[in-house]
Amino acid sequence: MRRGTILVTGAAGFIGSHTVLALWERGFDVVGLDDYSNAERSVVARIEALGHRTLTMIEGDVRDGDSLAAALRAPDIVGAIHFAARKSIEESFLETRSYYDVNVAGTLAVLQQCQRAGVNALVFSSSATVYDPAQPAPVSETGRTLGASPYGRSKLIGERMLRDAAQANGQRYAILRYFNPVGAHPGGSIGENPRGRPGNLMPVVCRVAARRQSQLSVFGNDYPTIDGTGVRDYVHVQDVAEAHVHALEALIEGREALSLNIGTGRGTSVLTLVDAFERANGVRVPFAIAPRRQGDVAAMVANVDQAALSIGWRAKRDLEAMCRDAWRFAQTLA
Ligand code: UD1
Repeated sequence: MRRGTILVTGAAGFIGSHTVLALWERGFDVVGLDDYSNAERSVVARIEALGHRTLTMIEGDVRDGDSLAAALRAPDIVGAIHFAARKSIEESFLETRSYYDVNVAGTLAVLQQCQRAGVNALVFSSSATVYDPAQPAPVSETGRTLGASPYGRSKLIGERMLRDAAQANGQRYAILRYFNPVGAHPGGSIGENPRGRPGNLMPVVCRVAARRQSQLSVFGNDYPTIDGTGVRDYVHVQDVAEAHVHALEALIEGREALSLNIGTGRGTSVLTLVDAFERANGVRVPFAIAPRRQGDVAAMVANVDQAALSIGWRAKRDLEAMCRDAWRFAQTLA
């Protein structure tokens, strides 16, 4: 059954690539847009090999109206998923203008071109980092927002623009606030491959397991958590990808406005994750306790009831699958 074509910006990225496969599985066609600024070109061939079909890609910057318009000329476009953005909190303090430019101007361009092309179902990548961390976990969608970094604020502005465009032009939208996406496709050929030295926990754990780094620095063991280390809501990237398809289907069926947490609802400490990784993969991950990392919070966990209620989505994959799949992909990296 053909269900129409979806524009995916940032289709070669970590979540984008998995979402292309999830869309294909549910009968959608995809036209992808990427400028390959934070993804390898070879990802496209890998997506194609996993999905056994050809992916139409337009190479271009998401701020460039002409590239977007070209992608939106694909036949039978019924919706768009907008991933293309910069996403490091740390970097956003140093390269602030670029974060506002790519993330805010990029979202504005997507909105404008979608409106021009008559595409009014739009799924937007947001982040748990929009929440004020000074509130107890788990946090629900009505929790206080703050946006403690230029990155977080750029996402809050994107959310605001979508809401205003909904009022003004009838744009239907789903804002998905991701908690900590990890793991990879079990096929092993696509996953998270950040440029430069990784900063997020799972990619660092993989580097240590692969002996490309001698040990993991555990940033603090004196938080008010189960073992003193930071607690987060890790969620398998395939579950995250499937959430986009569910959200998009709801919009196409007529839902107008969704803001949803995308997590598992379960908190996992750093030491619990290390232990699960060692057990799942039969490898050692040596670690040492280090001082707290600036800007870190003790715990950030999602209340995920709303996603289940409004789009019928719940994460299905457990921590063991996240660790196994992340490691399978990490072993393919040079
Ligand atoms: C980070 C980002 C957030 C982003 C999320 C998922 C920050 C402050 N926040 O959040 O915007 O949405 O990643 O990409 O950068 N840890 C260690 N040692 C390490 C690395 C991490 O102990 O080498 C600990 C951290 O202190 C934290 C946990 O592991 O307790 C998770 O860290 P990380 O993967 O960086 O995610 P977040 O801090 O949740």
